[in-house]
Amino acid sequence: MKILVTGGTGYIGSHTIVELQQQGFEVIIVDNLSNSTAAVVERIEMITGIKPALEVFDLCDALKTSRFFGEQQDIAAVMHFAASKSVSESVRYPLKYYRNNLLSTINLLKSMVDCNIRYLAFSSSCTVYGQPEKLPVTEQSPLLKAESPYGNTKRIIEDMIADTVNASGLTAISLRYFNPIGAHESALIGEAPSVVPDNLVPYLTQTAAGIRPFLRVFGNDYDTPDGTPIRDYLHVVDLAKAHVVALKRMLDGKEKSRYEVFNLGTGKGHSVMEVIQSFERVSGMKLNYQVVSRRPGDIVKIWADPSYANTELGWKTEKDLDEMMKSAWDWEKAKK
Ligand code: NAD
Ligand code: WQD
Repeated sequence: MKILVTGGTGYIGSHTIVELQQQGFEVIIVDNLSNSTAAVVERIEMITGIKPALEVFDLCDALKTSRFFGEQQDIAAVMHFAASKSVSESVRYPLKYYRNNLLSTINLLKSMVDCNIRYLAFSSSCTVYGQPEKLPVTEQSPLLKAESPYGNTKRIIEDMIADTVNASGLTAISLRYFNPIGAHESALIGEAPSVVPDNLVPYLTQTAAGIRPFLRVFGNDYDTPDGTPIRDYLHVVDLAKAHVVALKRMLDGKEKSRYEVFNLGTGKGHSVMEVIQSFERVSGMKLNYQVVSRRPGDIVKIWADPSYANTELGWKTEKDLDEMMKSAWDWEKAKK
């Protein structure tokens, strides 16, 4: 069965393709390589023995997108990872984010409806919850005003998908990821940002590798046990596995409604200092870091209630923080 993976040469998409291929699915990737390289398909082949097909074009190009779908008659489902994802860049260039994330999804949804492709899994984010009043966060927690244009694109796209499901034969699942980190155990694929990373773990491993002079810890005066903010970090391979389960749920007709939403996290929160300590434990190194002022827009603490995904998808995370940090460090060293 053929699955289209948009953004498949990117961080989460590439790990999901490995899991899809290992479960017997055939994969075709569409990616414009704006934040990844074509070499990823060879890396995937080194892990699974199967080279996924790659079509390089921009999903914002309506004509190319509809032509591509016209030529591909046998796509059973789509996993939609393609997006721009830097929160800080989205604050500086909001229209770039609204254009890329919304237009690509509009073109994709239109082609899926036109070609009667019925199943979609979408990469949403815990960013749709903002700073929740109650923790942990369930799927019923209120969606707060987005903290950034990037976050707003996720909220808008969730609505676009729900409306398209209502108006067509589409069935869809939005997966709200918490904080994916780590890399495949082979150290052949991982997070490879083409710009200076915003996110904690790639910045931290680049610091340890000598690419950055020091990690800035954005504030240690928050209302948390050690004063640094708390997030729900989950291993990217655990996250990838959730996509395959969600896909099978749709293909097997097990969904409770034609549009479903799942939180994907571990259910445990870790502070920035705990992440640093975990890194130091698994690497045997001392990390160079400095506490600086708070980062504007940062939330204090958030972690998931993953029980709906645990019971309904039969999925739960397996890897702990040390395993995540070890794989992130192994990947950083292998990249050199
Ligand atoms: P990534 O940047 O590594 O992968 C995204 C891929 O999409 C890249 O390969 C990029 O080249 C491609 N792309 C972007 N715009 C495109 C377009 N118009 N047409 C074709 N290809 C395009 O990012 P990732 O971390 O793998 O994230 C995947 C998805 O998960 C994104 O939608 C992101 O918003 C979402 N997400 C990520 C995180 C995270 O922390 N990494 C958390 C929550 C949600
Ligand atoms: C984690 C913690 C920082 C970098 C972002 C997006 C969110 C989602 C996940 C996609 C925070 C601290 C970070 C650094 C630091 N992405 N930090 N020094 O803020 O939870 O969320 O990524 O949907 O939408 O907003 O993740 O990795 O940026 O930060 O001290 O150099 O690490 O302050 O407390 P965040 P993050």
